[in-house]
Amino acid sequence: MDKIVIEGGNVLQGEVRLSGAKNAALPIICACILTGGWNCLYNVPRLKDVQTIREIMSNTGVHFEEGEDGGLRINSDDISHHEAPYDLVRTMRASILLLGPLLARLGRARISLPGGCAIGARPVNFHLRALSAMGVDMQLEHGYINAKARTLKGANVFFDIPTVTGTENIMMAAVTAEGKTVIENAAREPEVQDLARMLRSMGSHIEGEGSDKIIIEGIKTLKPVAHHKIIPDRIEAGTFMIAAAMTGGHVTIQGYRQDHVTAVVEKLQEVGAEINQGKEEVSIKGPKTIHPADIKTMPFPGFPTDLQAQFMALMCIAKGTSIIRETIFENRFIHVGELKRMGADIQIDGNQALVRGREYLLAAPVMATDLRASASLIIAGLAAKGGRTEVNRIYHLDRGYERLEEKFQSLGAKIWREKA
Ligand code: EPU
Repeated sequence: MDKIVIEGGNVLQGEVRLSGAKNAALPIICACILTGGWNCLYNVPRLKDVQTIREIMSNTGVHFEEGEDGGLRINSDDISHHEAPYDLVRTMRASILLLGPLLARLGRARISLPGGCAIGARPVNFHLRALSAMGVDMQLEHGYINAKARTLKGANVFFDIPTVTGTENIMMAAVTAEGKTVIENAAREPEVQDLARMLRSMGSHIEGEGSDKIIIEGIKTLKPVAHHKIIPDRIEAGTFMIAAAMTGGHVTIQGYRQDHVTAVVEKLQEVGAEINQGKEEVSIKGPKTIHPADIKTMPFPGFPTDLQAQFMALMCIAKGTSIIRETIFENRFIHVGELKRMGADIQIDGNQALVRGREYLLAAPVMATDLRASASLIIAGLAAKGGRTEVNRIYHLDRGYERLEEKFQSLGAKIWREKA
């Protein structure tokens, strides 16, 4: 199994271009099940998770062709199977995103229940309840969701908590349903908005994305989309910004959307980073002294849970104490034990972490426990003193970051991949 080795202490400098957003690409690829003909996507990141969803969809009869610049052509004319098997779903919870589109296209779906994962139990009860309201007959048998619907019917859906993939699943089920669907307390994330853009290009009648109320008027048939460019990855953007701040570097990030990262930019300014935002690029200069700042993870437009671990790494060397509250997932502090191995002073109390900044972190062998924890440990390693940090179990990283170590290398970091 590969590991990432980092010799810390180099100041990051230069320019880096963002990849397409994983969490936008996944639902949009699933949405291609909704129509016949070729859908053409661009800026699709080459990631393990994208590979996994392609594998599951290939099993159902969907065809894929790769092109230049993250181009991906998808054709669902021959789709005939309706199953997402356990072996693949267990490696990627986002496979649940196939439930809505398979029901819309084939009237049935058999999807392995995703189960828990490292960051929490992550149930899918909201997805299932909303689909039942749309007339889906649902049985949970042998670890699988068996879902059937002769016709999907529009419904009023209210989510107790805004759920990103839940909102996306219902949007995809609703676009060809009979009548109107209203999703209240919908997720407002940019990735949900990108899916709405794609569905609208397919001809859907959908409005309200980006607000907490999405209204969809079902229509009979959709058409394939000739060109859809996936939005840039805001979590990757935040990861580079935090790394630049942590190493006292000066980095320009290209292919950037200012409106997607407002909460993160504000926090980085609070810690003392200098940030200059252009329309599609941002430059960030790390502070001489990193000031502490408290964060609370929230649904968009709040501070994203997917950047909590990276921000915590930064706070480990702030001059003072900060409090980090995780409100989205119940077990998203698993990186803490690993950061402590590097000398961090962190105390956990429930969903709250008290981080007392130290002058520096020390290089150490550590273990990646989930995707964003991997990024946190790499950033910590980039700033650490005293030799080599080895980040093991790096397959998590490949699920969600495209060529991360190459991109850090281009910014002057000493980082490489080795066979463990
Ligand atoms: N929830 C329920 N029941 C449900 C659905 C959600 O209780 O049926 C709860 C969750 O347990 C959680 C909260 O609602 O406490 C919000 O979870 P959400 O459903 O929004 O998460 P998700 O859709 O499973 C997506 C991203 C995650 C990201 C979260 C939060 C994708 C493919 N995944 O997950 O991304 O952390 O939204 O923003 O879009 C990552 O990329 O590393 C990642 C984990």
